[in-house]
Amino acid sequence: MESAAAALRGGALVLLPTETVYGLAADAGNPQAVAQIFEAKGRPRFNPLISHVYDLAGAERIARFDARARRLAEAFWPGPLTLVLPLADPAAVCDLARAGLETVAVRAPAHPMARALLAAFGGPVVAPSANRSGRPSPTRFRDAMDETGAAAAVALDGGDCAVGLESTVVSVLDSVRLLRPGAVTRAEIEALVGPLAEAEADVKRSPGRLAAHYAPEAPVRIEARDLRPGEVLIGFGDSGGALNLSPSGDLREAAANLFKMLREADRSRPAGIAVAPVPHEGLGEAINDRLARAAGKVG
Ligand code: TXA
Ligand code: MG
Repeated sequence: MESAAAALRGGALVLLPTETVYGLAADAGNPQAVAQIFEAKGRPRFNPLISHVYDLAGAERIARFDARARRLAEAFWPGPLTLVLPLADPAAVCDLARAGLETVAVRAPAHPMARALLAAFGGPVVAPSANRSGRPSPTRFRDAMDETGAAAAVALDGGDCAVGLESTVVSVLDSVRLLRPGAVTRAEIEALVGPLAEAEADVKRSPGRLAAHYAPEAPVRIEARDLRPGEVLIGFGDSGGALNLSPSGDLREAAANLFKMLREADRSRPAGIAVAPVPHEGLGEAINDRLARAAGKVG
């Protein structure tokens, strides 16, 4: 882990496993290093990055927490929750990493390798998902290597990502808003901070949510109840399918399989990918959000 921390200190990039998806990591305070991330991903510079920290104490050095934000961090960190908060220290997270915003996104990841690197490095580390911009996030080491491995000086193999979907993003500013659904569900957040405000007005605050995203090469058709010529099926529950997100209908298993199976379905160069209906409740909100984006239906 020391060599990965040394790479970050030297301004190089590290391929980093987290419990959600693989990330492409850099020193948050080094604009040259952060620029390499945008370059490697082909990511538009108006889309800000998440700063990863070891714990709440590390987060409080870069962001301002009120009682609601602290309650969420204490309940879900380390884990798949990102908080968008007022910036406390502009020097710790460079302008480019924040896309010039006066807010900063922070998360303490749970994966032991991510935690070890953050402990060894000792400061905030920005890491977007390690895919090239617009492609499905990598949830396996070899997928991450295929996407942006060439840009990393050190690549850490942490096995398959247990969650398989990017973190839930919640802004805690004037009100609390859900900017991106994820493994921490809307109900779990509302249980701690009350009803969430509508996210629509916040689109400009989560710039990365504007474009169609997570798309494989083949066109994706969702809520599919039949199979059309040339299509490959990704099933759910008893819908069948050689690829099935979860034959037993378990949403956690489905989330962990989603991006992996979109990649696998794509590999045979089908005319299209048909995905069986997945329930919208709980974790299903995040799964359906990613599927809608993969299908080019933002929403
Ligand atoms: O699970 C995850 O969050 C993974 C792993 C690697 O930690 N990372 C990840 O990063 O998904 P990325 O860059 O692919 O997605 C970050 C999202 C984008 O939609 C971005 O627009 C939003 O967070 N974001 C970052 N900073 C923000 C800010 N200050 N205000 C609003 N949205 C922000
Ligand atoms: Mg991403």
